[in-house]
Amino acid sequence: MVAPMVTTFLMLFLATRAWGQTTDDVSWAKRVDTGSQVVTTMQFYFHDTLSGSNPSAIKVAGPQSSATSPGGGFGQVMMIDDPLTEGPDKKSKLIGHARGLYGQAAQNELGLIMVLNYGFTDGMYKDSSFSLLSLNPVMQTVREMTIVGGTGLFRLARGYALAQTYWIDASTGDAIVGYNRESKLLILCTIFMAFPLVHSISEGPKEVQQWFKELPIKQEKVTKLHFYFHDTTTGPAQTAHQIAESNISSTTITQFGRTFMFDNPLTVEPDVRSVRIGKGQGFFGAASFEEPRFLMNLNFVFTSGRYNGSTLQFLGMNPILHRVREMSIVGGTGAFRLARGIATAQTYFLNDTSSIVEYNLVV
Ligand SMILES: *[C@@H]1O[C@H](CO)[C@@H](O)[C@H](O)[C@H]1NC(C)=O
Ligand SMILES: *[C@@H]1O[C@H](CO)[C@@H](O)[C@H](O)[C@H]1NC(C)=O
Ligand SMILES: *[C@@H]1O[C@H](CO)[C@@H](O)[C@H](O)[C@H]1NC(C)=O
Repeated sequence: MVAPMVTTFLMLFLATRAWGQTTDDVSWAKRVDTGSQVVTTMQFYFHDTLSGSNPSAIKVAGPQSSATSPGGGFGQVMMIDDPLTEGPDKKSKLIGHARGLYGQAAQNELGLIMVLNYGFTDGMYKDSSFSLLSLNPVMQTVREMTIVGGTGLFRLARGYALAQTYWIDASTGDAIVGYNRESKLLILCTIFMAFPLVHSISEGPKEVQQWFKELPIKQEKVTKLHFYFHDTTTGPAQTAHQIAESNISSTTITQFGRTFMFDNPLTVEPDVRSVRIGKGQGFFGAASFEEPRFLMNLNFVFTSGRYNGSTLQFLGMNPILHRVREMSIVGGTGAFRLARGIATAQTYFLNDTSSIVEYNLVV
């Protein structure tokens, strides 16, 4: 069945206020300084196209058996690189992309687990992003979803989204099946967000540290971590294994949809034989048609020293060819309970089969 859909989104972000005053320079977002917080309202459309010759959502994994749910879709996982536009028309101004994974996680209705990063390219929001981790019961009129973190202007952001279906074309029956087979989804997003005001987003670990220093949250403990992350995709020292791909992964230069599960060592020096302080465990998947850009969802698990036994959870988008990549720390355990923070990644070494990435974390 064919089920193009338009959906409305309403989102709220909360974070701490820093200093300064900025003005809106885009029509789809509005920032309001409430005194202690900055609330941003955003409105945009999300276009999810499964059908046709140019889909933006492509299946990367599915259940072994097709008899998993009434609609047969349970367990289907899609990698998406969906345009976000100012208006409902797909030809209206492009303001960013939603990239990452969603999968059918409900047996009896259409309920998607969404593991996505929304990256913006317009106006002052250029290079800012937020990460959404939530269940999306698509057939409900209004769905509430959780924004767990952000980067750039959305550093330390928290919020929620209220998504509403705006338009649906379910011409041949069951929407569950239709959604999983071929559909288009547009989401109108209204975002209320509160987050620290920053004059500008300067990239790099030092700048993030400086930014944290200026936050009026002195009672909160700030921890800085620095280590190297070793990723190897083939050979005897392989630490990352491909677990899924799409039917275009091998023909697109960005390997769209190719997804790896990894258990990568973290060391204090670039040399893999240097002191190990922990492991990075989770998955990354190629989520862009434009350039190598990976959705990263992982845990940093510390196994020595002061943080032995503590973990940090990480969800963000990693455009690996950029000099500095900023991603969000969305939670922690042990010494890092309730942690939020920013990770900056810089490639120290990269070839076809392995990479060494320097990480600076401020949590
Ligand atoms: C990939 O799979 C989709 C859905 O099954 C199909 O419509 C499309 O034609 C396939 N593309 C290629 C390049 O095989
Ligand atoms: C880390 O903690 C575990 C569990 O408590 C312990 O067995 C291990 O020896 C500790 N490792 C280091 C290097 O302190
Ligand atoms: C990549 O670098 C690693 C570490 O130096 C090396 O073992 C491996 O052979 C290299 N792979 C390629 C394809 O050059």
